[in-house]
Amino acid sequence: MLTSGIPNRRTAAMQDLTPSPIEAPANHYAVYQRSNLWNSADELRTELKTARALIVRNQTCVTSDLLAAAPQLEIIARAGVGLDNIDVEAASQLGIVVTSTPNANSIAVAELTLGLMFALARHLVPAHAATAQGTWQRQEFTGVELAGQTLGIVGFGRIGRLLAVRAMACGMHIAIHDPILTQTASEIETLQAKWLPFESLLAAADVVSCHVPLTADTHHLFDYGQFAAMRPTGFFINTSRGGVVCETGLARALQEGRLAGAALDVRETEPPTKGALEGHENVILTPHIGAFTEAAQQRVVESVARDVQRVLTGQPATEYVNFDRPRR
Ligand code: MLT
Repeated sequence: MLTSGIPNRRTAAMQDLTPSPIEAPANHYAVYQRSNLWNSADELRTELKTARALIVRNQTCVTSDLLAAAPQLEIIARAGVGLDNIDVEAASQLGIVVTSTPNANSIAVAELTLGLMFALARHLVPAHAATAQGTWQRQEFTGVELAGQTLGIVGFGRIGRLLAVRAMACGMHIAIHDPILTQTASEIETLQAKWLPFESLLAAADVVSCHVPLTADTHHLFDYGQFAAMRPTGFFINTSRGGVVCETGLARALQEGRLAGAALDVRETEPPTKGALEGHENVILTPHIGAFTEAAQQRVVESVARDVQRVLTGQPATEYVNFDRPRR
């Protein structure tokens, strides 16, 4: 948390971030920062009684209940893009500004997705594990080339677009499903990509990559039926939100050979409990590191610090989600 230059007046509660966005504001505000604050509802509630700003990652559940206990809160700054952990409607009703960092970490997520795609196609993880054990198995790790294959992108926002450009440079064809866009959308035409209905994309793509926010509509968008509709040689990648995938459905589809492999950077529960996907030879699992590059984190921190500082000094926020100044 940050707290204010006004003695004893708490200004911001904050989940742990590295680098810390509080270094500059800390000269002016009292700060309360603790890495596990997201997991201590009572402590968070207590600190929020006097806080003017709350800075969170994706783990702190900012509910209407919690906000009701924060009478002085002016801004909730989300150090990231996904807003599924914040009740934005409740914040708006209370006149609290919500900001995020949409331009800070999209490249990092797109690059990780590309890396996972290559890792799946060339069996990099099992090939490394076997070689590190002292074996030399070349034929076993014969992979596939991505050039000439079709990448199906579900959700064509910032990250989907960055991924499309990079995959095209690798010689891939791009198919897109996004309910808000159509074939004639300039974003799709410019890339000479093909818009497809969801089911057609699943059947047509060699690799399906998911880039949608988690909402009531997208919860378990990918379940057994969707995986079974993919090509048996296909790969599935999720670097968006874990709740978009039903993991038991994915595990069953993999077990039955309905698709060739999957890579998940995000999980239904984080951290996850060990289940059918852990240790599966055709699955790559990473601990929600999509946004974790030094450059991306630096941009995230700068964006958060700038907007908190602006709002607390009466200026409009730049990366606001609802409105740019507090209305309380
Ligand atoms: C995001 O939503 O920006 C990423 O998933 C990273 C994060 O939540 O920390």
